[in-house]
Amino acid sequence: MVGSNPNSTAVVGLQWGDEGKGKLVDRLAGEHDATVRFNGGANAGHSVVVGGKRYALHLMPSGVLAPGGLGVIGNGVVVDPAALISEIDGLSAQGVDTSRLVVSDRAHVVLPYHKIEDELREAFLSGGAIGTTKRGIGPAYADKVQRAAGVRMGDLVRPDVLREKITLACRIKNVAIKEMGERAGVETTALDPEAITSEGLAWGERLAPMIDDTVYLLNAMIEDGKRLLFEGANATLLDVDHGTYPFVTSSNSSALGISAGTGVPARAIGRVIGVMKSYSTRVGSGPMPTELLDVTGDTIRDRGNEYGTTTGRPRRVGWLDLVAARYTAMINGVDEIALTLLDVLSGFDELRVCTAYETPDGRTDRFLPDGWRLVEATPVYESVPGFGEDLTGCRSMDELPGEARAYVERIESYVGVPVRSIGVGPDREQTIDAPGVAI
Ligand code: GDP
Ligand code: IMO
Ligand code: MG
Repeated sequence: MVGSNPNSTAVVGLQWGDEGKGKLVDRLAGEHDATVRFNGGANAGHSVVVGGKRYALHLMPSGVLAPGGLGVIGNGVVVDPAALISEIDGLSAQGVDTSRLVVSDRAHVVLPYHKIEDELREAFLSGGAIGTTKRGIGPAYADKVQRAAGVRMGDLVRPDVLREKITLACRIKNVAIKEMGERAGVETTALDPEAITSEGLAWGERLAPMIDDTVYLLNAMIEDGKRLLFEGANATLLDVDHGTYPFVTSSNSSALGISAGTGVPARAIGRVIGVMKSYSTRVGSGPMPTELLDVTGDTIRDRGNEYGTTTGRPRRVGWLDLVAARYTAMINGVDEIALTLLDVLSGFDELRVCTAYETPDGRTDRFLPDGWRLVEATPVYESVPGFGEDLTGCRSMDELPGEARAYVERIESYVGVPVRSIGVGPDREQTIDAPGVAI
């Protein structure tokens, strides 16, 4: 019975992504039997540093670096097979065991035309663009919801079905691609369904041993008392329903997406960990009330090495937005916060946290989960004393300076959730666990 085994853990981002989910998943993976991706695709970039060596994971669950355990790509993920194959090959060349991967037969496939559409839409929208990662994520999810032409991983080993779907997709898309290209001033060529089908079949041949029904697999694991670790990609403020729409990604990138994205009942999840940076970052367009466009922002970006793992873009940087954090903790049902990159904040005399917004309708401490409303909000700040000490060598709460502890306590009191761990550097070892908290 699932109800008697709420042993699984969820790790989700509480901001706009890049909170350090990969590092936490890597630390927790050894205590679980499978690491499961449920949303997003190769738009995710999860960095894990082990013994000074950096790994960048995009589609591979970050648990792959820990010994034992399965990696599962659930039905809610959109898989770019070319990207997956190159990631598998790259990791294998680095000596990582990639043989424990299972990919859902129902996960949708990102095809070459999805990436073309993503590029063209962004060019066409120009000033109003979302600032996507151009990995074809939105167009692949759009085809999933549109239905007839949506290609699933299982179709890659069924030539007739694959050919039919791709032919239909090309018929529809050739019209739109030509038109959009002309309007955006971008040269396009007509899609060739036979060539795309052949490419798809080659991917299918390579990936066939990994493609399976992951819904039965995961539910059987739960029945057997195994522990699953759900790895969120993207983050809650990018959730298509609950984020800063329309400046979001195209999936439910909060814990709310786990059930639909894996076929596992929500009651199997016993513990939800929300990962949160000690400040805010955002990549791409959309409102960010606490954004710092000054030298303080530049300093944090440099110290935190805030450049995208997937696209290399400089991340926008700002003070910690506690209004947003309390909202995202609420909708995820967060039990514990994993606070990350606290080391980056050392050296400032004063730190600021946003505790309310001024809006055209007055002051509020509620988040505004709508891009066009949030853009009108200005932050109300509370000042907190800074700390000068280097934290990167701290390994226990006692070793942290009093001001750093006070900063953490202010977060806990505002959000109403305990901080279970504190990151003080990128390496696996550079983490402080709160006393009494089990990894
Ligand atoms: P994810 O997408 O949530 O997995 O996060 P990313 O890997 O995209 O971005 C987080 C970045 O911060 C990576 O470069 C990590 O190596 C790094 N990182 C994670 N935790 C810490 C920390 O506590 N301190 C520092 N200085 N860097 C960290
Ligand atoms: P991880 O898992 C940061 C952002 C993009 C863009 C918007 C839509 O590493 O935290 P998309 O390509 O998904 O259509 O882009 O979402 N975005 C991310 N930003 N980290 C991510 O993932 C992101 N995934 C998507 O920058 O603004
Ligand atoms: Mg990232």
